[in-house]
Amino acid sequence: MPSAPTSAPVAVVGAGYVGLATAVSLAHMGHQVVCADHDRAKLAKLEAGEPTIVEDGMAELLREGLANGRLRFVGSSTEAVRRAELVFLCLPTPPRADGSADVSILQEVAEQIAPHLERGAIIANKSTVPVGSTRVIEQLLGRSDVAVVSNPEFLREGQAISDCLHPDRVVVGADDAKAAARVGALFAATGAPLIVTDAATAETIKYASNAFLATRLSFVNAVATLSEAVGADVRDVLLGMGYDHRIGFEFLRPGPGWGGSCFPKDTSALLFMAEQAGYDFPLLRAAVATNDAQRASVVAKVSSALGGSLAGRTVAAWGITFKAGTDDRRESPAVAVVRQLAGEGAVVRAYDPTVRGPVPELVGLAEVCADPYGACAGAEVVVILTEWDELRWLDYAKVRSVMAEPALVDARNLLDPAKLRRLGFRYTGIGRP
Ligand code: UDX
Repeated sequence: MPSAPTSAPVAVVGAGYVGLATAVSLAHMGHQVVCADHDRAKLAKLEAGEPTIVEDGMAELLREGLANGRLRFVGSSTEAVRRAELVFLCLPTPPRADGSADVSILQEVAEQIAPHLERGAIIANKSTVPVGSTRVIEQLLGRSDVAVVSNPEFLREGQAISDCLHPDRVVVGADDAKAAARVGALFAATGAPLIVTDAATAETIKYASNAFLATRLSFVNAVATLSEAVGADVRDVLLGMGYDHRIGFEFLRPGPGWGGSCFPKDTSALLFMAEQAGYDFPLLRAAVATNDAQRASVVAKVSSALGGSLAGRTVAAWGITFKAGTDDRRESPAVAVVRQLAGEGAVVRAYDPTVRGPVPELVGLAEVCADPYGACAGAEVVVILTEWDELRWLDYAKVRSVMAEPALVDARNLLDPAKLRRLGFRYTGIGRP
């Protein structure tokens, strides 16, 4: 079913991962979109057709929208919402020290835009917010003519555009059925099932989905640990499990633990909310603890490859981002592992295809090298922390020749151990012999 292009512009407030992907995708679907961000440098790049994040397909859609005039960027949220029938709020909700979500930016923006909204406008909140926030936004706006709906976003970084254009589902949480239908109609072109609920349920769907996926990964990593203990190969264990259609193959890769801008913050926020509501949620606590242990176990593998001590030893770390296909380093397990390695005295030489030169997270912890071979020069062990495809295709004879010792810890199970061993490497993977 084609979506009905809006005559009035759609406003998107916030040009981060969610906002930018939403804005370019809506423009691609035929809507007029005005996207606001207060960061002038970011706006200048976007207006010049240069994406501010590494994201497959972003450059094409950004340039398409600018060229056909369906996409505009402005520096103020109040300017963006004028004349807009629909306003998407795509703002950060970072974690506070106690784990709860900080919604102050969202509150501030709601207060700023309130007097500038069109009569009968609909506010759709895409930011991940504590259950009950849709109501709080409604109160802050203080506009009885404006409907507020929850429209959680499920996009993955690295696949943000395809997830926006082809979502598994569209969730709209609202008391106002007409407003929910209007927001749903905007995504009709995607053909995705539309789930209309009340606001609290929509907000809970988002947290429960992320917490479920994080728990699934912690389970997978625990099965990898178990496989090592009992002498099984976790890849075959997961293959055998995945053929059960109730389990499936997606989200079944063991690794150095889950990270990124969502899982860590959303699991903490859900634990906080559950506690406030009088529920301890032991299962989710265990998933978080298993994730912390997974990072530590990668450090232990590196240490063991070096004979037990990291002090003064040179370690090459390949991959800094929290996963491949993105330049995002927020809550990256790779950064956490490097921090622990450096904390135990290792001299770390890091490489990542999206990183050129020093990065704030690694200052004083690691030297950032321009290529993977350079990072390995003189290293006694190399650890793969992000599953970048290019790492599969390196010349491993050359890697071996530049290293002081041929040891490799593959925390993403990216490489073929037999091939590496033939080249003389001591290979350690995750949950496999
Ligand atoms: C996640 C959710 O998937 C998305 O729906 C939500 O909107 C935002 O949070 P994202 O953080 O972009 O998306 O990354 P995702 O691909 O889900 O990966 C999260 C973490 O899990 C990464 O650290 C990744 O490396 C890890 N992961 C994922 C694994 O270790 N193994 C897997 O099989 C899949």
